Amino acid sequence: MKDNILQIDSLKKYYGKADSETKALDGISFQVIQGEFLGIMGSSGSGKSTLLNCIATVIKPTQGRILLKGKEISKMNGRELASYRGNVIGYLFQNFELLDNLTGRENIMLPLSMHNVSEKESEERLLKLASYLEIEQVLDKFPTQMSGGQKQRIAAARALILKPEIVLADEPTGALDSKNARQLMAKLEGLNRDERSTILMVTHDSNAASYCQRILFIQDGKIFHELRRDYPEETREQFYERILNVMARLGGGSNNVL
Ligand SMILES: Nc1ncnc2c1ncn2[C@@H]1O[C@H](COP(=O)(O)OP(=O)(O)OP(=O)(O)O)[C@@H](O)[C@H]1O
Ligand SMILES: [Mg+2]
Repeated sequence: MKDNILQIDSLKKYYGKADSETKALDGISFQVIQGEFLGIMGSSGSGKSTLLNCIATVIKPTQGRILLKGKEISKMNGRELASYRGNVIGYLFQNFELLDNLTGRENIMLPLSMHNVSEKESEERLLKLASYLEIEQVLDKFPTQMSGGQKQRIAAARALILKPEIVLADEPTGALDSKNARQLMAKLEGLNRDERSTILMVTHDSNAASYCQRILFIQDGKIFHELRRDYPEETREQFYERILNVMARLGGGSNNVL
């Protein structure tokens, strides 16, 4: 049997009070299998970032549970929580969130300074990731001197440098053109395949989603559909077509960039 790394149980997040209440998440349940590349799709405002932020413990759910390998994250003590945030989860944002006054290398190394990783090991990890993500040439540049694609690959290296068990990516291709988006997705797909990295990616880009193995579609804070790529028979292009069909039923929101 395959192992569950993450379990989301009847998760609800309501913002505001009474008459101005927004049910951003309204009872979401699903599981993420170790080594899975899972996509979450839904139109703007459907609750995708809220879901990732609950999992990252950036915000507190109103109700429901999030379990990491069977352990409820809201019940973790200070040390466990710090390790969860630092070592278990790596977060990749739509807008890169790089620090402009640090070089690419310094941005990537930042999380290491807060954890006990030796200089030798840090350097080894950095070089391996830089080579894989093709960012060796920009390590000593500042973010303002990089292209969007380079910035996002630097941000990906930063998210991966602590070897997280789960990568959370919120619309990682949102600020990229289609060529850079495809390049980033191919890298994430490779990491998932070769390193068995578990990736949970939120997107409204159908092409980006076609790199996933399984996609959950959410609308109004609820899961309304699930698609699974049919390996090995189904090509990514065929999967993409199926995704477009579901998104059409959702009523737009799809960035058609294939
Ligand atoms: N801090 C907040 N306070 C009040 N309402 C919020 C807050 N954050 C999000 N919302 C509302 O919750 C709903 C879900 O927002 P969320 O950011 O999760 O959507 P999303 O699916 O990520 O959208 P997008 O694709 O535009 O990023 C929206 O209606 C939004 O207006
Ligand atoms: Mg969002």
